[in-house]
Amino acid sequence: MMSSENRSHFSASCSSITEEARAKINLALHVTGQRPDGYHLLDMLVTFADHGDRLGFMRAPADRFTLSGRFGEVLAGDGGTNLVLKARDLLRAAIGPLAFPVRIHLEKNLPIASGIGGGSADAAATLRGLMRLWGTTLSAETLAALALRLGADVPMCLESRPLIARGIGEKIEPVPQLPTFAMVLANPLKGVSTPEVFRRLATKNNPALSLAQSPSQTADWLAAIAAARNDLEPPARELVPEISEISAMLHAHGALLTRMSGSGATCFGIFASMTAAEDAAAALHDKRPGWYFQATETVSGGA
Ligand code: C5P
Repeated sequence: MMSSENRSHFSASCSSITEEARAKINLALHVTGQRPDGYHLLDMLVTFADHGDRLGFMRAPADRFTLSGRFGEVLAGDGGTNLVLKARDLLRAAIGPLAFPVRIHLEKNLPIASGIGGGSADAAATLRGLMRLWGTTLSAETLAALALRLGADVPMCLESRPLIARGIGEKIEPVPQLPTFAMVLANPLKGVSTPEVFRRLATKNNPALSLAQSPSQTADWLAAIAAARNDLEPPARELVPEISEISAMLHAHGALLTRMSGSGATCFGIFASMTAAEDAAAALHDKRPGWYFQATETVSGGA
């Protein structure tokens, strides 16, 4: 729920543009190898939540960046290293004099360094929003290359719909048949360093993701996802032991399947219905009021 202060950032001004930066959820993440430059080769089944950060973009006399939301303060002190500003500057350099000064507001609802792509989704939303505000488009290839320079997950966040990503995340195939899922996202609010998790990986050549018989029913998809893995979960559990506790808590509250997303520490639980997910999130919040629990439905493949 937005506060009245936040609502003013997204007022219906005709010159203001808003974009959703949806949480990215790795339903599966297999590490299949490593490139000579050190980046890992991944096979990922990815979907996006109907929940995330929100960004507003508006013409302004000079560039300005403001923050609000539950996790806004955490980012306030990062001295311009935010991916939103990097995305703005990179797009401006690509398009030149058309890129007039902008005020960007970020309502930061997603926990930081949490494996659900908050920073990447913000960067992707900035590229989308500023292309609209500046009245410009780039070719799909140029845009994808620009996104990849911002981070391995940014190209998929530009899509924000169910997909399989391979390579380091840049080889993307949509999966329009993926059903929506009722989910709870859960995080103990311990940030995880992605490079540190990759460094701790015991094996880098794991079996590829295989969805051989393309599932048709939700139950078949659940079985296919359950048979897949997140290879980053064991090293992330070493860094954040609470991941095991969160997984057990989600199961105890009725999750049909739980797994960690990305390099953690956010875990998701898939539930039979949104009512079940909302009830579980409320009960979990009562148990651990300081943690992050969010019920959400994932987007449909056609979205
Ligand atoms: O691209 P991004 O900035 O999100 O990646 C953060 C770090 O995570 C990289 O510097 C790298 O250490 C690690 N990483 C990796 N393989 C990937 C993605 C990220 O090793 N496919």
